Amino acid sequence: MLHDHSRKNGIVLKPGFSPLDHQRLAPDEMQRRAQALLLECQRRRSVRHFSSEPIPASVLDDCIRIAGTAPSGAHKEPWTFAVITDPETKGAIRKAAEEEERENYSGRMNEEWIKDLERLGTDAEKPFLEHAPALIVVMRHAWQVGAGGEREQCYYTQESVGIASGFLLMALHHAGLATLTHTPSPMGFLAKLLGRPANEKPYLLIPVGYPVDDCQVPDLNRKPLNQLKV
Ligand SMILES: Cc1cc2nc3c(=O)[nH]c(=O)nc-3n(C[C@H](O)[C@H](O)[C@H](O)COP(=O)(O)O)c2cc1C
Repeated sequence: MLHDHSRKNGIVLKPGFSPLDHQRLAPDEMQRRAQALLLECQRRRSVRHFSSEPIPASVLDDCIRIAGTAPSGAHKEPWTFAVITDPETKGAIRKAAEEEERENYSGRMNEEWIKDLERLGTDAEKPFLEHAPALIVVMRHAWQVGAGGEREQCYYTQESVGIASGFLLMALHHAGLATLTHTPSPMGFLAKLLGRPANEKPYLLIPVGYPVDDCQVPDLNRKPLNQLKV
């Protein structure tokens, strides 16, 4: 005899499964939502000039929770998000990042790379690492440590953490915050500075905050649909 809670629409629920919480929308509502999100996404820009005004910690927490809803290989959730707000650590990160970037700009990057960066107006100076009220370092778990201290495999960690980072960037934008997707290279210094365990590899460094009042961003065009959709 099946109990009521094991049936939904006549379907027997398998142990460990629940009914999907899916909202079926009318086509015009689907279109309205897609359009609204498109307009919002089109306004997202990478910001390199931050005000030092603090941001609400609870908003940051919710955005990190949103990142944590991303799909991941075998649901291993191979990520953590290190949030840095104290001026001393931000200063140390800036110093170490600029040391690496000076090497990049003076030889580690080839001519084509430097030329590609010219229109963005970037250089080895990274004041935003101190000005932004928060830095989020997305950490990718190359493996994980089980309850008994044993090493557990993770799968498709690059893909999983990339998707979670996309969720995070969009969540922060949706909440009215500006971000930069920053990749000082190499990033090994971050794991050391933050004292993270050996399985956690720095993936992205994301300054978060409000843009300065007179903030400018480089002009850019995005691919139209006929180049995106093939
Ligand atoms: C993986 C990745 C790494 C990036 N690294 C840097 C970086 O180190 N410094 C920087 O100023 N911008 C960096 N960017 C930002 C890009 O330059 C920016 O996304 C691109 O120019 C498009 O501009 P938009 O974000 O305003 O649309 C990075 C973006 C991505 C996706």
